[in-house]
Amino acid sequence: MSNRRILVTSALPYANGPLHLGHIVEAIQTDIWVRFQKLRGNEAYYVCADDAHGTAIMLKAEQLGITAEEQIANIKADHEKCYQGFNIGFDNFHSTHSEENKVYSGLIYERLKANGHIASRNVTQAFDPEKNLFLADRYIKGTCPKCKSDDQYGDNCEKCGATYSPNELINPKSAISGATPIQKDSEHFFFKLPEFESFLKEWTRAGHLQDEVANKLAEWLDSGLKEWDISRDAPYFGFEIPGEPGKYFYVWLDAPIGYMASFKNLCDRTDGLEFDDFWNVNSSAELYHFIGKDIVNFHALFWPAMLSSAQFRTPTGVNVHGFLMVNGEKMSKSRGTFINAESYLEHLDADYLRYYFASKLSNSVDDIDLNFEDFIQKVNSDLVGKLVNLASRTAKFIEKSGGSLSATPENPELWQQFLEAQDVIASAFENREYAKATREIMALADAANEYLAAKAPWSLAKEEGKEQEVVAICSLGINMFRALMTFLKPVVPSLAERAETFLNETLNWSQPLAFVGGTQINGFKALLKRVEKTQIDAVMETNAKLSPTPVEQKNSEPTTTVDEQEPIAETINFDDFAKVDLRIALIKKAEHVKGANKLLQLTLDLGNETRNVFSGIKSAYAPEELEGKLTVMVANLAPRQMKFGVSEGMVLAAGPRGKKIYLLEPPSGAKPGQRVM
Ligand code: MSP
Ligand code: ZN
Repeated sequence: MSNRRILVTSALPYANGPLHLGHIVEAIQTDIWVRFQKLRGNEAYYVCADDAHGTAIMLKAEQLGITAEEQIANIKADHEKCYQGFNIGFDNFHSTHSEENKVYSGLIYERLKANGHIASRNVTQAFDPEKNLFLADRYIKGTCPKCKSDDQYGDNCEKCGATYSPNELINPKSAISGATPIQKDSEHFFFKLPEFESFLKEWTRAGHLQDEVANKLAEWLDSGLKEWDISRDAPYFGFEIPGEPGKYFYVWLDAPIGYMASFKNLCDRTDGLEFDDFWNVNSSAELYHFIGKDIVNFHALFWPAMLSSAQFRTPTGVNVHGFLMVNGEKMSKSRGTFINAESYLEHLDADYLRYYFASKLSNSVDDIDLNFEDFIQKVNSDLVGKLVNLASRTAKFIEKSGGSLSATPENPELWQQFLEAQDVIASAFENREYAKATREIMALADAANEYLAAKAPWSLAKEEGKEQEVVAICSLGINMFRALMTFLKPVVPSLAERAETFLNETLNWSQPLAFVGGTQINGFKALLKRVEKTQIDAVMETNAKLSPTPVEQKNSEPTTTVDEQEPIAETINFDDFAKVDLRIALIKKAEHVKGANKLLQLTLDLGNETRNVFSGIKSAYAPEELEGKLTVMVANLAPRQMKFGVSEGMVLAAGPRGKKIYLLEPPSGAKPGQRVM
């Protein structure tokens, strides 16, 4: 088979939070494609990185009291571990905050500039005079000019849906410091995108994009392109623009260059792998970016335009997928369907989800839905019921007669179907029609199961003198299992690995499929467990605890009697401590709880919301002396069911256990909802 050279990327996840199953859809879609290419004998590389720059990451680090470098290092380790858990086989996972990326970002910028594709002019923007920071729209909050709702973001109102510019907000405040923003001028640098209009009109129609994506872009291209603002003022976590002190590249300028940087980093530690072979303007290698539909303009307009100006090759394909929905709805934090990738891995096998997503993915930008009933049904019926069963029901008869397979297929017509399906399945994978590939594979599995059911080797085995026939039937059974496992190997790599141990060989797809006879197989061990509904429940439970972040808490009324010196608890690091979100709370109401002798029930005002909290401070305070007081609460403690109701947080009180307890009281003037730490 031809030996293609292929470089593949997934979009770089932001380094400001953990991965969720939406990220995993993309990684799985890409990984299946890369594994398929490698199994076919092509030279393929899969690189990715964390997208480490920008204001959000800088602020997140500040909030945690660590440096941005520490923040992105923590997140990178977390992302890598998580991707590994899903069997994402990156050849390299790098960071945009890297030396390579700095070099290529500088180089590309210099080339754009030399070509006259960089403009500069003054821009007036909202500025936080306390933090000395220009404020992007989402960092300004105020009262909606239309419906007068408080606390709305600078670009649109969540209450009435109005869109406006931040300077229309009534009483605008910096969401970072609370200061009133002022208007301030500063010089910005722009990439002159309009000069690439005719290049892009042609490029977007030259077979690099799905038709639906090209059509969408045509609407933009027809309504005229604008110059793209590629600079941000200090303080900003990113790369300073060469020759422009205090000016930084906007995160989206150096993010796609991160693809190059990650590949360069791989080249530098791989003998014989040359960066230029893949990125030179006349490179014959293929380059594919897998991305979600929300970031098409960056990859199919800005990026090819930048690459062409900077005399690098442009992508062979930008492959766009839709968004992950959960049970038919957009993932939502409040409904608990924003599923954290780690939560899944804690309770379920990665191959289940890989297979499930594969069975849903096509090469269109349609959203894909994760429906848990459907998930359980597909995994159990297809993978366990149809596929693994082929081996489990036949292996023991081969074993009994010595473990060696018959030389020829017992039913040549049936086997022929498998041989013929190979090319159909291969082109489905090649075209990212994974749903079609899995349908074809499962249709073959159905045929194989029908054959076995009709021949019933388990019954024949009980008859005298049928041993040869039983072995012949089961040898075809094993061969069909082997063929299907080969086809599915890009999708379910761990299952395939266990099957390989059983089959005593490494499956690959670089040769046409052939019947294996005479070879010895190993004893059969269970290859895959059924999914249980309880595992799904456990995922959702873990997930609910994760956001908001769980804090250790005993699930009973507080004890007030222990008086001996307790050993100091296990050390926690600063990050653990910083997860606790402490807020100023106003005690609106305090009441006795019927039947509880230590608890008071508090209604706490957090500015934007009220919370119901049970607190063991009855011995220290009468309800009436608490009402109207300010205190401090742990606002991100997972709600917990107590005997008397659900407690939605915890107020901070201190005192020697069993003695008088003092409620923490912030200085007057503190506002409910303000963050304390
Ligand atoms: N950092 C940018 C990408 C830079 S690429 C040079 C970014 N990061 S992201 O973390 O927000 O998203 C990373 C990828 O995950 C994007 O392709 C995005 O479309 C995809 N997804 C994010 N949420 C998703 C779903 N709910 N469903 C499917 N994919 C989703 O954008
Ligand atoms: Zn409004």
